[in-house]
Amino acid sequence: MNLFLLYLILLRLTHIVAGALWVGAAVAYFLFFGPTAKGLGPAGPKFMQQLVGKHRYPLFMNGASILAILSGLGLLWFASGGLNGAWLTTGPGLGFTIGSLAGVAAFGVGCFGIRPRAEALGALGASIAAAGGPPTPEQGAELGRLDAEIHFYERWDVLLLVVSLVMMATARYWVF
Ligand code: HEM
Repeated sequence: MNLFLLYLILLRLTHIVAGALWVGAAVAYFLFFGPTAKGLGPAGPKFMQQLVGKHRYPLFMNGASILAILSGLGLLWFASGGLNGAWLTTGPGLGFTIGSLAGVAAFGVGCFGIRPRAEALGALGASIAAAGGPPTPEQGAELGRLDAEIHFYERWDVLLLVVSLVMMATARYWVF
């Protein structure tokens, strides 16, 4: 087999596996793990500590998303003939470009919207636990604010990922 084809196959394999894991984990968190943690009441922070600290959910998400984006950029380069503008106006070109932009935007929302707030929430939860008591009214208000903001960004993140997924899944057959 030609070496170039082998390289493309490896790039596609990396891209599709990493992309599927990225979207799948984000949707599973949004629909199941997040609501489960909330429903557990006082045990919720412990569940989150296990998920984040022991099972390294953020590391998994960083790895999957970075791999999907880097391999996606490689595929974009080949699919578009070196970012040739004429490709953009074809059906598949338009679909894959919209999907790529949505995926990169989702990554930005995760990095700059969710991550700093989740870290602040974790640090606040740890200081409340270290003090050994229930949160003060100010800490309670701060917890509520961070939680609401994280939920807002999570909705955008999942929406953009689903847009990216739908575009990736269908763009090849956009013929017009
Ligand atoms: C959000 C997660 C993503 C998933 C689940 C995903 C999934 C896929 C799948 C299944 C394909 C194969 C489509 C086909 O052969 O018809 C594909 C192709 C492609 N993806 Fe993604 N993708 C994601 C994100 C991205 C991102 C962020 C980029 C660019 C930065 C990108 C760029 C591409 C390109 C250019 C192709 C076409 C490759 C080709 O022509 O062979 N994808 N993607």
